[in-house]
Order: sequence, then structure tokens, then C-alpha cells
Amino acid sequence: ADTIERTTTDVLVIGAGLAGLMAAVHLAPKAVTLLSKGPLGEEASSTWAQGGISAALDPTDSPASHLADTLAVAGGIADQDIATLVTDLGPERIHDLIDLGVIFDHDDKGLSLSREAAHSHRRVVHANGDSTGREVMRVLQLRVKEAAHITVLENAEALDLLCQNNQVFGASLLQDNKLRTITANATIIATGGIGQIYSATTNPFAASGDGLAMAARAGAKLKDLEFVQFHPTAIDVKATPRPLATEALRGEGAWLVNEAGERFMCDEHPLAELAPRDIVARGIWRQIQKGHRCYLDCRKSIGDTFPQSFPTVYTHCKNHDIDPTKDLIPVVPAAHYHMGGIEADNRGRTSLNGLWACGEAACTGLHGANRLASNSLLEALVFAPLVSKDICDFLTTPPARNIPEIEVSEKTDAPYPAANRDEEAIYELQIQNYRYIGLCRDEKGLKTLLKELDRIELDIPHASARLKNITTISRLIATTALERKESRGGHYRLDYPESNPQYQHHSTIKLDNATKH
Ligand code: FAD
Ligand code: SIN
Repeated sequence: ADTIERTTTDVLVIGAGLAGLMAAVHLAPKAVTLLSKGPLGEEASSTWAQGGISAALDPTDSPASHLADTLAVAGGIADQDIATLVTDLGPERIHDLIDLGVIFDHDDKGLSLSREAAHSHRRVVHANGDSTGREVMRVLQLRVKEAAHITVLENAEALDLLCQNNQVFGASLLQDNKLRTITANATIIATGGIGQIYSATTNPFAASGDGLAMAARAGAKLKDLEFVQFHPTAIDVKATPRPLATEALRGEGAWLVNEAGERFMCDEHPLAELAPRDIVARGIWRQIQKGHRCYLDCRKSIGDTFPQSFPTVYTHCKNHDIDPTKDLIPVVPAAHYHMGGIEADNRGRTSLNGLWACGEAACTGLHGANRLASNSLLEALVFAPLVSKDICDFLTTPPARNIPEIEVSEKTDAPYPAANRDEEAIYELQIQNYRYIGLCRDEKGLKTLLKELDRIELDIPHASARLKNITTISRLIATTALERKESRGGHYRLDYPESNPQYQHHSTIKLDNATKH
């Protein structure tokens, strides 16, 4: 007997970070059901964002300069049209946020703009020092709660897309341990990143790449998966995930030193601590390989102003008995951002009909092989309204679409295996991923990981959604990393340390083509 509860909506939005909330708000007056894996606003990287949002707002700055910086760090494979679109629209979208009620920090010249690595201007707006994400999400949650067209389902974990003949019609989900389906004429994946596939990450628990894995299983085209960004300065304390020490600290002059007090980044790059993120992260990695420990020294540059200027990082430090006005902050590179994702065009359309992707889960090509700091919130902010507009046009364009009767297979019958059942297996895989598809890769390691994934997959029909998704993404990244026999941006091969012009292009993959041994 079929006891699965089914409901219908115009648009299903999976994920309630900046991308999902913004898209939902802009979809008015269409009926939207918005899924949040945890309580609304929690378990989203957007809420944790520290440094801020980049846009050419200073009179001496320009979108052309922001574009040039975005392309300069992207390893020669950013999509120039997309990058132009995003950098051009940046200033307007920041003013939209202000109109919605977001309060950014000001100084005597107006909006206070901070500097971050590889930006040629001060162009990062922020709120409450380093609590930008919390402020933006506070306002967006208010707007969502007061919107009559949006139904929010909290603690609702999407499991799989409902898909027939390359057409997506909603998703199955688990809420209060009960399986449900929601059918929809349009579905947006806005599930954020994949940091949780690694043992060291700055990302929240929900960032296990669920949307990416769901889209992969449904047959969507995925792009640039091998490009994963490691943030150089996660605070190296016993905490999962690792708290972040924002790049804006280095923007204010903080140094990276080893335990001997040596400032090692000067030998790595002319911009030293403000070199592109992948270069700084590998500079730290090289120190660690030599047996050193690495630290951020903020004592001279920021000193006593630390608690007021960076209250979020200050609290993280104090929670671990570190006083950054007097002590060095121990740091380690941690998985932070996925440049790759579900292939999406300039309206967020994916290769499957009825499916859009937005935010970190999407790959629009903006970041190429490496993302410029604070360009991620900007991408979500620019794309969410474009996706919503495209969906509104799509829904009002004949012919009217009928949602077919879709069978939800017995495989998804409750009771659904809980993630904690697989805790140990997940932890072991996270460690292997940090080692083999982390900051540095090589053929031997990638093949070792793929063999291990073969073993794990033997038991996958009985696994929790979390293990299943992490395994799928690990395989896809290992496969694309094995195929790219060069180094570029966030993909570094110890056995091919140079860039090779032959590979100066995006990579695309479908799950069916991922390496099996
Ligand atoms: P998220 O904000 O991560 O939201 C994803 C949503 O999907 C969450 O609600 C999650 O619960 C939900 N979800 C996931 N899986 C499921 C599922 N199966 N079912 C239902 N819901 C699901 N970028 C910047 O530009 N500037 C910064 O200053 C900055 N600082 C950062 C600091 C930290 C600590 C981190 C981790 C990231 C930072 N980034 C920053 C990156 C940026 O925050 C993210 O890339 C961006 O917020 C992604 O937004 P999103 O809406 O795509 O995803
Ligand atoms: C940070 O504040 O260092 C994170 C900024 C980003 O990820 O863009």
C-alpha cells in the first residue's frame, strides 16, 4: 500500500542558504516550497560567511577591474561572459540587500570596504566586522517568513529528484523520519557545497553535496568537479568543522609565520600573504610537509582592536583559549568551497528540463579553477533573481506542463537508514579524501581512493543518504582529478605540477562515466 505523503507546488527550492532564500523571495507570486535540512538559517555556509561580499563600489574601482581580478586567479578557464555579468551587476545587488534591510558596516566615507587576497581594490562589504553572513541571512529569513507565497519545511532532507525522461518533477524527502514527495513544475537545487566530504573543512554539517549527488544520479551534467578550494587559514583546533580565520585578517596586514617566527609566504609569491588562495594554502601545506606548524600573527597589525574588528574570529579563538591580541593563531588549510558543481547556464538552467541550480551547488564557470575571495556570496546574490525570473517566464509560457505519476521506489521506504549508522565509515572516507583528493593529488593516491570507493559501494544499497552522497561525490572528484593530468588553480597534481595548455578548458562528467575499477 502506498502511504507516502505527496504534495504539489509550483516551485520546489531545495536548500535555504543565500541562494535558496533569495530565489524563493524573487519567485513571488508563484507558490514555493522551500526545504531546509536543519532549522531555517542554520546549517548553511551563508550564515557563517565572515569576510563579506565583493562588488566594485568604491569610486576609484570599476566592474572591469573586479572582472580582471576574478579572471586573473581563475587559472585561465573562467567563463568571461558570466564573470562580466556578475561583476557588472554586483553593485546593484548590494544596494538591493540594503533596500531589503541589511545593515553593512560604514566608515566616514560611506560603506566600509575591506581588502582581501588578490583583489586590486578595497571592495568587500561586511557587517558587524566579520559576521556578514549572519546579518544577510537574518534579513532574508525575515523576508521569507513574511512572504505569503513561501511554505518553509524545516528539518526536511531532500533525498532524490523525481525524474523521468530527463525531466525533473520535484523530489523525495525525509522529514521527521517520514518519507514524502513534493511534485513541482520547476525545481531549484541550492544545497551549497561539499566540504563535509573531507575530514578538515570550514563547512557546516549539511554541506555534504546532497544536491550535487542527487543531480548526478538523475543524469545531470556536472562541471569542473576537480576544482576544490582549501581555505589557507582554518583555525587548527580540535573542532569539527574547523572555525575560520577570515582572509580579511591578512587584508589588514596579519602575517603567516611558522613556529620559528619565519614569514614564509614572501618566498612563495610577490603578494606574500595576499597571494591567491590556492597558492597561500599550498605554501602552508609545504611548511607542514617540512614538519613546521603554521600560525597567523595578528599582534602588530590588528592588536587590541581585534575583538571589535573581528568579533566572530575572536570568539572562536577564545573558545579554544587563544587570545589573538597576544597569541599566534594556529592555522591549517581546510576544504572551503567547491568551484565545480551542477552545470548551469546564465539563467541557472541545468542539462535536465525542469531543474535549475543556484549558489555553490551550481557551476556557472564564474570561478574557473579558483575563486576570488568574497565572490561566492556575490554569485548567489546575482544568480538567484536571474533563476527566479527564468522560472516565472517558463511557468507562464505555454504549453502547460503536466506532472506525470512518478513511482517512488520501495528502496526509499521508511525506516530510512540514519546517518549516524554510518558515522565510522563516513569518518574514514573523509580522512582518505583529505589525503587523496585534497590540496595535492597524484595518480597513485587517486587510484587507491577509487579502489576504496569500489569496496564501500558494494554495501551502498543499505547505506544512509549521507554516506551514499559523499561516496558519489568522492568518486566523481577522483575521476575528474585523475583525468586532469596537470595542475591548475584548486587542482594540484604532484606528478604533473605545471599547467598544460592542452587542458585549458572546463571538464564535464556524468555519473555513468565515472571511473570504475
Ligand atoms: P549554503 O548557504 O551552504 O546553503 C545550503 C542550504 O542547503 C542549507 O540550508 C542546507 O541546510 C541546505 N541543504 C543541504 N542539503 C540539503 C538537503 N539534502 N535537503 C534540504 N536542504 C539541504 N563566501 C563569500 O563570498 N564571502 C565570505 O565572507 C565567505 N565566508 C565564508 C565563511 C565560511 C566559514 C564558509 C564555510 C564559507 C564562506 N564563504 C564565503 C562561502 C559562501 O558562504 C558559500 O559559498 C555560500 O554561502 C553558499 O551559499 P548557498 O546558498 O549556495 O549554500
Ligand atoms: C573569508 O572570510 O576568508 C572567507 C571569504 C570567502 O570565502 O570568500
